[in-house]
Parts: sequence; C-alpha cells; structure tokens
Amino acid sequence: MANLSSTYMGLPVRNPLVVAASNLTAHRDNIQKAVDAGAGAIVLKSLFEEQIRKDLSAIPAEQLEANPEAQAMLDALTSGWGSSDYLRLIKDAVAVAGPVPIIASINCIRDDVWLDFAEQIERAGAKAIELNIAPFPGSPKMTAKDLEDLVVSIVRNVSVRTGLPLAVKLSPYFTNPFAIIERLAGAGAKSVVLFNRLYRFDFDLKKGAVVSGPAKSGPQEYHESLRWVSNLYGVVGCELVGGTGIHSAETALKFIAAGAQTVQLCSALNAGGWSVLGKIRDEMSALLDSLGYASVDAFRGTLSRRAHPQNEQYERVQYLKAIDPR
Ligand SMILES: Cc1cc2nc3c(=O)[nH]c(=O)nc-3n(C[C@H](O)[C@H](O)[C@H](O)COP(=O)(O)O)c2cc1C
Repeated sequence: MANLSSTYMGLPVRNPLVVAASNLTAHRDNIQKAVDAGAGAIVLKSLFEEQIRKDLSAIPAEQLEANPEAQAMLDALTSGWGSSDYLRLIKDAVAVAGPVPIIASINCIRDDVWLDFAEQIERAGAKAIELNIAPFPGSPKMTAKDLEDLVVSIVRNVSVRTGLPLAVKLSPYFTNPFAIIERLAGAGAKSVVLFNRLYRFDFDLKKGAVVSGPAKSGPQEYHESLRWVSNLYGVVGCELVGGTGIHSAETALKFIAAGAQTVQLCSALNAGGWSVLGKIRDEMSALLDSLGYASVDAFRGTLSRRAHPQNEQYERVQYLKAIDPR
C-alpha cells in the first residue's frame, strides 16, 4: 500500500487528512473519535478574538457590586465558551491525541490586545495555530490594500509572539492570491489554507428575513481551491492546504497532485460521520497504488502548474466556446 505519511508545517503526520475547524472539533470526545478514525491532524473549533477581548477586560469587583447588570454580563461571559475553556480544550485534546498534531484556531480581524493569547495557546500544548482571518470591508473607505495590510499585520504580530508554526485560512476573495500569500509567507506564515468557505448569506422572501444558506459544502465546490493550489505550488514560500468541497479520495488526491501538503475535511465528516476519514484514507492509498506511486510525497505537485509550465489551462478563467444547449 502506498505510504501516506508526510509532514505538515514541519510536524510529522500519518496521512494528509486534516479535520477542519468546526463544531466537530469542539469537544474532547470528538477529538478521540477523530484520532481513532485515522485523522492526520486536527484543527480545533475557532475561538473568536472578540471572546478573548471580553475575557481580558475583567470587570472590577466594586463595579460589580454597584452594577447588577455587570455581574449578569460577567456570568454570561464565563458560562460561555471563553478563553479559559479554550485552553482546557487544547490540553484535553493534546492528552488524547498522542502523536496526532492538535492545531488551535483563532478567528480574528484585529492585530492588537488579543495577540498575547498566542503564548497561552503554546503553553497549553497546541502544536500549531491556524488563523482564520476574514475582515469584512464594511465601507468604500476601506481599500483592498488596507485589508491586505491588516491580514499581514495580524500574521506578523502573532508570529513574533509564538514559536509555533502558523497557518492562515483565507477567503477566496483576494485580487491576487500570489501577492497576498507571498506577503503572508514573509510575515511568518508556514502554510495557507485555500480556501475558507464563508457563511452563506441568503434571504427568506416570505418572512422578509436574512437567513443562513447551506452550511455544508457539496462535492462540486472544490474547483476554485484546486486552481489556486496548482498555480501557487512552488511559487510562494509556504505550504498549501486544500480546503472546501473535499468529499472523496479522488478529490483529495487531486489536491495533492496540485501541490497541497495536506487537505482539510469538514462537510464530508458532518454528512457521513467519522468513518469517512478511514474510507478516504484507504481509498487514497489504493488509488495511488493503481497510479503507480509509492507515496503521497512522490505524487505531490505532479499536476501543478510548475510541472506543466507550457499548459495555458492553468491561467484560463473564461470559457472559450459557448456551451451546446442540446
Ligand atoms: C458548522 C460549521 C462550523 C465551522 N466552524 C469553523 C470554525 O470554527 N473555524 C473555522 O476556521 N472554520 C469553520 N468552519 C469552516 C470549515 O472548517 C471548512 O473550512 C469549510 O466548511 C469548508 O470545508 P468543507 O467543504 O470540507 O466543509 C465551519 C464549518 C461548518 C460547516
């Protein structure tokens, strides 16, 4: 059977299947299940930067006595999923994961006070940090450069506070992924996850309300990520991770052929349960055998743009011919 073991951000992984951050990775019991099912690495559900901020601004005792509302607010904060709960989750996850790397995840949009929390994540035993950075522009005054500078600044400021390797999970909406990812590599990112699947925005016309679109991806949603992994491989100075729409061994291997170091799965596990991990792992190994490759490392990048520099398909973004309607 083909060898699936590899490395991710310098950490040894038994296979390139990473369980993506989600509700599935928010509890110790599920971490155990992911490990037993064969995960190569696990990204814990994100802690939101706003939560860290709230926890940092502790309310003085005298103010609490004078203000029952403040007490109620503090109760609400501490009974929810706060930064101390998150550090406990990291410790619990590390304790059950054995050699499977546990990656903490922070959902962040600012580059200030919360950053010291990175040191606590490291002390709790996480092997890496994934930053999910998706600032919303909000107004015409915010330029593309402002947004990119912010993302780079967050990564640079976190990287000087921790020795842990940093992954950055990006949205697909950057004008030039080559440029922003090269800047992120320069700021200290060891890998980029391409791409995050953002919350789907929708309307219910009958209720006149804003509602959530489908939370789970379908198996046809991987093409944009695949395009960018294959274009970026060997060009930018960090590892590439495939994300969104990976529901089968074949799709996972397409990302490895494009140059991905690892791939992340969320919806496939939400839909099919933990056994999907072992199934995809075994099918990847069998598929590599049938293609004549002894290992996932040998297969990596074989269909990347770098391996086929004359092929114009990598840059193609428009259809050349009309689709035949018959
Ligand atoms: C219910 C749900 C919760 C999620 N929570 C997080 C999260 O906490 N942090 C994060 O970075 N991504 C989160 N994601 C995004 C996933 O990690 C993943 O990037 C996305 O679902 C695309 O992968 P998929 O096509 O395999 O589902 C969540 C996705 C879902 C469906």
